Amino acid sequence: MFPETRLRRLRGHLQVRRLVRGTSLSPDNFILPVFFKENTTKPENIPNMPGVFRQPLKNVDKIAQECEDNKIPCVLIFGIPRKKDAKGSVAFAKNGVVQKAIRKLNECSSLAVFADACLCQYTTNGHCGITNSKGVNNDASLKLLEKIALSQANAGADFIAPSAMMDGQVKAIRNCLDKNGFENTGIMSYSAKFASAFYSPFRSAVQASPKKQRRKPFLRDRTTHQLDFYSTKQAMQEIESDLCEGADIAMIKPALPYLDVIAKAKEKFSAPLAAYQVSGEYALLKSGILHSRHALLESTIAIKRAGADIIISYAAVELLKQLKDTQ
Ligand code: PBG
Repeated sequence: MFPETRLRRLRGHLQVRRLVRGTSLSPDNFILPVFFKENTTKPENIPNMPGVFRQPLKNVDKIAQECEDNKIPCVLIFGIPRKKDAKGSVAFAKNGVVQKAIRKLNECSSLAVFADACLCQYTTNGHCGITNSKGVNNDASLKLLEKIALSQANAGADFIAPSAMMDGQVKAIRNCLDKNGFENTGIMSYSAKFASAFYSPFRSAVQASPKKQRRKPFLRDRTTHQLDFYSTKQAMQEIESDLCEGADIAMIKPALPYLDVIAKAKEKFSAPLAAYQVSGEYALLKSGILHSRHALLESTIAIKRAGADIIISYAAVELLKQLKDTQ
């Protein structure tokens, strides 16, 4: 009790503050998401995401070098194809933009390559799977997700990151990988992916939003498959079933509005836990309203403090540079 205890003694000196923090961030915690666009030769700006670009494939080595300079161990790659169709066929094309990026990254770096496996960037209607009159058809979509995962593994992906929120997607992909000799290719599942407004800058980044369909309200958004943001219990069920189906890493997404979910999952499960600081979080933090350097660090630390082992962040390079400057 005061005056014997003066908690401010622990805060008087920067080096002592560092000693007693109990939370730290290091390059080992980060995965950098990268967008590769098929028909572009120059990096393109993304609205509301300053410092993030749609990258041409010829920049693969530059990006790999930037990761290596900042000791970032992993990238998560997204593709923006030249052509879309009803089935999203280019998502599993041998020479699709993601498959090419994976091969190039493996040639020029020692990064671990994670590949997002979903259909929404590749389908003309912007949905995460095959649709019929009732909505997104779960089991028909699984077949395509298997094909995507297999083509990414064939190209050399170390981890597949299925993000479609189809039931059974982890099991289907795990079985397909195993059957084809890819038993060592991992799965980081977007397990607790909420139907969130925080994805909107991403959707303009990859030019894929669910197309509005007048007489099919269930196809208007992703609420029939992504998690209802009122529910923590369902998030726990999703993580549990993904781990049972063979996921190696479980992910929660978005991160900052779901810190309670991260903390609960950390307590409940021992598998590595990733949190995705999504495009909307990044856009708000970089909007210029706040001092972005501090706001970014503060909210990323919060994600780590809540229990995430891995943080997927567009700001990874900036954060790591900042950490180097302040220590
Ligand atoms: C694709 C996908 C999305 C994100 C990652 N993978 C968008 C969505 O589900 O609509 C969002 C990432 C971000 O906002 O940074 N299924």
